[in-house]
Amino acid sequence: MTDQTPALRLEGIVKTFPGVRALDGVSLTVMPGEVHALMGENGAGKSTLMKVLGGILAPNEGQIFIEEQPTVMSSPMNAKAKGVVFIHQELSLADELTVAENIFLGELPKKSFGRVDWQRLYDETDAILKTLNVGFAARTRVGDLSIANQQMVEIARALTVEPRAVIFDEPTASLTDAEKVVLFEVIADLQSRGVGVIYISHRMEEIFKITDRISVLRDGQYRGTLNTAETNEEEVTQLMIGRTLDLSRNESTHELGEVALEVRGLSCGGLFEDVSFSVRRGEVVGFYGLVGAGRTEIAETLFGLREPSAGTIHLAGEEVSIHSPADAIKRGISLVPEDRKGQGLILGMNCRDNMTLPQVSDLTAGPFVSDGAEVAIFDQYRDKLDIRTPGWRQLVGNLSGGNQQKIVIGKWLSMRPEVLIVDEPTRGIDVGSKSEIHNLIRELAAQGYAVIVISSEMPEVLHVSDRIVAMFSGRVMREFTAEEVTEDSLIQAISGLTGKTA
Ligand SMILES: Nc1ncnc2c1ncn2[C@@H]1O[C@H](COP(=O)(O)OP(=O)(O)OP(=O)(O)O)[C@@H](O)[C@H]1O
Ligand SMILES: [Mg+2]
Repeated sequence: MTDQTPALRLEGIVKTFPGVRALDGVSLTVMPGEVHALMGENGAGKSTLMKVLGGILAPNEGQIFIEEQPTVMSSPMNAKAKGVVFIHQELSLADELTVAENIFLGELPKKSFGRVDWQRLYDETDAILKTLNVGFAARTRVGDLSIANQQMVEIARALTVEPRAVIFDEPTASLTDAEKVVLFEVIADLQSRGVGVIYISHRMEEIFKITDRISVLRDGQYRGTLNTAETNEEEVTQLMIGRTLDLSRNESTHELGEVALEVRGLSCGGLFEDVSFSVRRGEVVGFYGLVGAGRTEIAETLFGLREPSAGTIHLAGEEVSIHSPADAIKRGISLVPEDRKGQGLILGMNCRDNMTLPQVSDLTAGPFVSDGAEVAIFDQYRDKLDIRTPGWRQLVGNLSGGNQQKIVIGKWLSMRPEVLIVDEPTRGIDVGSKSEIHNLIRELAAQGYAVIVISSEMPEVLHVSDRIVAMFSGRVMREFTAEEVTEDSLIQAISGLTGKTA
């Protein structure tokens, strides 16, 4: 591949924001037909670099080359016209319009007299959809599609031009396993057509499955490029964060206290059925299962976001009914939600206020909120979670995706709840911070909190849990202790095979 002309090349890109040097002279070469991973810690500059390439941000310095011709990306439309297509993590489709209208928005095919040529629109759309092998049609309303299918529409939109390079920024964050398979097929197809693919993800197993090369950024600087086949997770991690990590099973133990939460026969119309389990003080109980197994819905019920149709909830031995999140918080239950962007943050507010929002009433002395106490909380969790921001005054909307998530996690941890429920705690979080969050969860348990961790990542469940509840299709299939659990028996249980013999 060395004598080929690169599909694109970035050289010496610098991008600064007030107080932040997000990119400090980054260079990157993408060959036609390769899948090139871009990795780095939260806030390393990955999305910023792609926004420069995609014409969304103008660099302060540096040069972009397409097939070795110097070029300037003046806007996203301009970048697309030059064959560089950016598929964002946050979807930008119009729900009320059809798939076809979304795909050709702004460039609808016209007949004479400027009228839209609907037949051609639908025909051309169906032709693109056919190459993508999707199960929906040009006339479908986008709002009726699953998130994964909406992502397919974004991809289809990218394919209205003959792309040279396609950028995927954390595309799998909200996809089910089956949907991921389809996405990876699309990527393989792009690759076979000679398109250069840039793929951003924090999930090592994906990176090693589908990419050819891995480039690493650290603190806005280019750290190197590795051939995927010739490297391993340790080496990539070392390059990303400057150290290796212990990703073994949970082996720390401490005394367990009395039962903090007991759930008996809990059901919620069709979402989950007859769920029973308990969590003791000092214990981390992991809920493992496939996306859609009902785990998030159980958490939402405990947090007062859903009404159970049957069953009881006991807190410290006392039966309670929880009708709202305010009820739950008052009784000492906190939920760090799965969709942290939608449910947790006010993007136009600064970091400190976002983190201390739920506890303002506790910190208020008379009519004044104690500024110092809030800043102290922020500082404490900024250090613990390694949140990268020039200071507490920074607007949360200006933080990188992963650092925004850390703010939400810090917010709920800092409330010191009796029962803490965290749903997919490390989705979108880099490997280094992942292990810090795992340690923090263990530490909270050691201090006597009862913790529930919902996760779709087996290593994560094995790493943090004292006990594991395996769910399939709304039901508890089996419970394991940390000592007895094996990967095989877990997989069996969450696949709906009874696996009682394991
Ligand atoms: N509009 C902005 N204003 C100020 N700072 C910004 C802005 N956009 C990004 N930054 C900063 O630039 C740095 C790089 O952010 P970027 O979003 O590129 O990180 P990332 O590598 O994509 O991280 P993640 O894995 O968390 O998505 C961060 O420190 C971020 O806070
Ligand atoms: Mg990012």
